Amino acid sequence: MKVTISEVGKHVGEKVTIGVWLTNKRSSGKIQFLQLRDGTGFIQGVMLKKEVEENVWDVAKELTQESSLYVTGTVQADDRAPSGYELTVEDVSVIHTAEDYPITPKEHGTEFLMDHRHLWIRSKRQHAILRIRSEIINAMYEFFHQNGFVKVDPPILTPTSAEGTTNLFHTKYFDEDAYLSQSGQLYMEAAAMALGKVFSFGPTFRAEKSKTRRHLIEFWMIEPEMAFVDHEENLEIQENFVTYVTQAVLNNCRQELEVLERDLTKLENVQAPFPRITYDDAIELLQEKGHEIKWGEDFGAPDETAIAEHFDKPVFITHYPTEIKAFYMKPDPEREDVVLCADLIAPEGYGEIIGGSQRIDDPALLEERFKEHELSEEAYQWYLDLRKYGSVPHSGFGLGLERTVAWMTGTEHVRETIPFPRLLNRLYP
Ligand code: 4AD
Ligand code: MG
Repeated sequence: MKVTISEVGKHVGEKVTIGVWLTNKRSSGKIQFLQLRDGTGFIQGVMLKKEVEENVWDVAKELTQESSLYVTGTVQADDRAPSGYELTVEDVSVIHTAEDYPITPKEHGTEFLMDHRHLWIRSKRQHAILRIRSEIINAMYEFFHQNGFVKVDPPILTPTSAEGTTNLFHTKYFDEDAYLSQSGQLYMEAAAMALGKVFSFGPTFRAEKSKTRRHLIEFWMIEPEMAFVDHEENLEIQENFVTYVTQAVLNNCRQELEVLERDLTKLENVQAPFPRITYDDAIELLQEKGHEIKWGEDFGAPDETAIAEHFDKPVFITHYPTEIKAFYMKPDPEREDVVLCADLIAPEGYGEIIGGSQRIDDPALLEERFKEHELSEEAYQWYLDLRKYGSVPHSGFGLGLERTVAWMTGTEHVRETIPFPRLLNRLYP
């Protein structure tokens, strides 16, 4: 019977056939150990010379790394094997012989691996990261569907900016200028006025000249937007959401977390409610620690890490200065110089994973902001309409998928958390 490696547990003692690639091989004169993978998992095949036909033994001996083949054998339960199973191989049939596979079991430099990203994703670590990424996406959809949200897809080609004009990706739209979406938020606000609670998930683009371990040029963002929801309620939804996703990864990705040697206690701690600290208090804390930062400045990565160190859960930093935040954020009615916003900072130095806020609902104030930010009122006419026709308090947030994957998998650099990263100096492969 043809099965996948993920299914072998249901076939202990049975003879099965699996389509696989050979990742590595060890042999003595009498026994060959074949390391096999099929995309669903990894398993060791054991071939005993005295148990197989001579030509089968010889074919196995000639197998090269990443050659594809069908193996037939009997599934054995084996406590010592990472997957819990082993295959006693009785027959092999080669599909394709790979020659000189560039990524060998020895160490390779990052640039070399990035040049071979299309092959690198086959390796055990990358396989585990990409599976966890998929689980996170699945859990995110689950959470929003369970909580009455409707999935809405905002456009990618847009006539204006959503998050400031400094990092827009410009392109031509026939005779007009267009930009790749930095965020679907503004469209999601329109959708929330139509459907109540909505979320989007898609690629977003920032032509940022930053070369840090947290920045991608193209990254994926999940963006919920909710009518009749204020700042405080927005934070509660975020902490419940992040808790749900973390627990799903813990429950459904044990093997992958083990491959990555992730410290599970760090993730087990992630339970709502999350601690909150105001921007004012964060500045004070940083100054006490000797950081060179003044009120009114944005946090750099080392600042965020220093704040995160105080907590063993993600922490919300709330009420940033109006000056340094996006034009659409609602000022705190008690204090106009700060806005009703929060960034969620992941533990262990993985940085900001969520940016969110309550939105301005007063049309006059919004018009004022367009002027201050030198945004063409004409281009945002439709957005202003949302405040003219039944304006309501509303809030939303955006979670960066790759930074979240980096945090949950314990991966140093976001380049390993997306199948084909777009970086400052990389568009290949
Ligand atoms: O904080 P940002 O810029 O917020 C927005 O775009 C809002 N419009 C979201 C909303 O309220 N609907 O981005 C949100 C998140 C960040 O917290 C970060 O996790 C991620 O997106 N992010 C990036 N991830 C990788 N590379 C980059 N260059 C990123 N820029 C932002
Ligand atoms: Mg932000």
